[in-house]
Amino acid sequence: MEEISVREVTRGNVDDLCRICVPSEKREDPVYVTGMELKRVWALGMLEKWGTCAMLAYRGSIPVGMIQYYPVPEQGIVRIHCIYVPEEGNWRKGIGTRLLSGLMKDVRGAKDWFGGEPPAALVTRTFPGEAPGQYPARLFFRRRGFVQVGDDPDLLYYPLRPGFVYRPPKELGPEYIPQPEDRGRAVFIYGPAPCPFAYVFMKRAERAVMEVAPWLPVQWIDASAEPDEMRKRGGVTGCIVNAVPIRSLVLDEGRFRREVLEALKANAQG
Ligand SMILES: CC(C)(COP(=O)(O)OP(=O)(O)OC[C@H]1O[C@@H](n2cnc3c(N)ncnc32)[C@H](O)[C@@H]1OP(=O)(O)O)[C@@H](O)C(=O)NCCC(=O)NCCS
Repeated sequence: MEEISVREVTRGNVDDLCRICVPSEKREDPVYVTGMELKRVWALGMLEKWGTCAMLAYRGSIPVGMIQYYPVPEQGIVRIHCIYVPEEGNWRKGIGTRLLSGLMKDVRGAKDWFGGEPPAALVTRTFPGEAPGQYPARLFFRRRGFVQVGDDPDLLYYPLRPGFVYRPPKELGPEYIPQPEDRGRAVFIYGPAPCPFAYVFMKRAERAVMEVAPWLPVQWIDASAEPDEMRKRGGVTGCIVNAVPIRSLVLDEGRFRREVLEALKANAQG
């Protein structure tokens, strides 16, 4: 079996990063193609801003795993978005471990994100993205020495500076600002994203909304092409029905549909 090598992502291999999470049989599907393209825009932006955004593991020339991250200078930490070894044949062969140790080694070295100082910690918020039988990211990070922050089992950190204790600031995401023209319609706002599935799931959400309310007009807003449309709505991305943001994930379809139905009732009342 060929040797595994770990490399930082650059403009030269950014397409490998955009493709790796998408199963090969989906790579020509137009919805996935858009998802990968949106990830590319995101990754190029991160490379421009920070000089790095991910590491890829290769077996020979085949990408087999990735770890994606970004520095948070105001906290002096590096945040890991995601780690992923997609193909079952590559699980439990040390690839995830190589990626994480590659990142640890790299961030301890000379990066000028924090005035030449190494980050105080690696921080991650895990989510259940594993395939059936695959190792969950939360257990992986714990086994590699990450510790839980407070009582949230998915918020984990690994101190790189001895004695450092991570105290997370309140995470305040953007809030939707209701627009009169969003009433009586479904609005989907999308843009560059670190995950190619963000757009794929939004398309799935559109399908679910159409099943619940086939009469509803639909508007798609591309945040890159129409930044003002996004900005006036508070800078949010996602699905808005009848001027109400839908917070459930479409992966939980029952809950998602119930929320859409509730949002539609909001119209009748007001
Ligand atoms: C977590 C993950 C990156 C680990 O990758 P990997 O290359 O298989 O991991 P490694 O071979 O380096 O193994 C790391 C450790 O986990 C253990 N491990 C891996 N898979 C395991 C499993 N299924 N059950 C129990 N332990 C497991 C290994 O034994 C090893 O522990 P050790 O070194 O203490 O013996 C991979 O399983 C993965 O991608 N999981 C899904 C993560 C996810 O949801 N990502 C987001 C997708 S959108």
